[in-house]
Amino acid sequence: MFRRTRAGLLSVSLLPLGIGFAIQPEEPKVQSGPVSYTRQVAPILQARCSECHGATTKEAGLDLSTYASVMKGSEFGTVVEAGDAAASLLIEMVTAGEMPQDADPLPAEEIAILRAWIAAGATNN
Ligand code: HEC
Repeated sequence: MFRRTRAGLLSVSLLPLGIGFAIQPEEPKVQSGPVSYTRQVAPILQARCSECHGATTKEAGLDLSTYASVMKGSEFGTVVEAGDAAASLLIEMVTAGEMPQDADPLPAEEIAILRAWIAAGATNN
């Protein structure tokens, strides 16, 4: 009788733990591992910038639709300095709210993703 009661208590106390795990989001936006260009950075640039910096319209000669063209930069020079987010014009522009032009500034979490990706070396990962 004593044993059954203990087993019952144990399973009840584990139940909230299981629910806690179940409601964790499958893929948090800011992960503990390295930021992925393909999974995290490219979707932001695609959604927010490609209208003016894409394969068809390249304002300032800047195409942000592929890894190679992001790293190539604009007609004036590079906009991403691998390993140095603070020196990257792209970060300066989104932080100042100058880009995306004529749109709401990027949310802080998206800027954090771009910044972390550049700081980690801006690799094609
Ligand atoms: C509605 C159009 C539009 C959108 C959307 C837009 N841009 Fe721009 N962008 C421009 C124009 C026009 C210029 C050139 C004039 C200027 O620098 O203000 C420019 C210039 C830039 C430059 C400077 C290039 C250089 O070397 O001088 C950077 C960096 C840049 N954009 C990044 C971005 C990023 C990152 C996004 C998305 C978060 C973005 N832009 C979204 C229109 C846009």
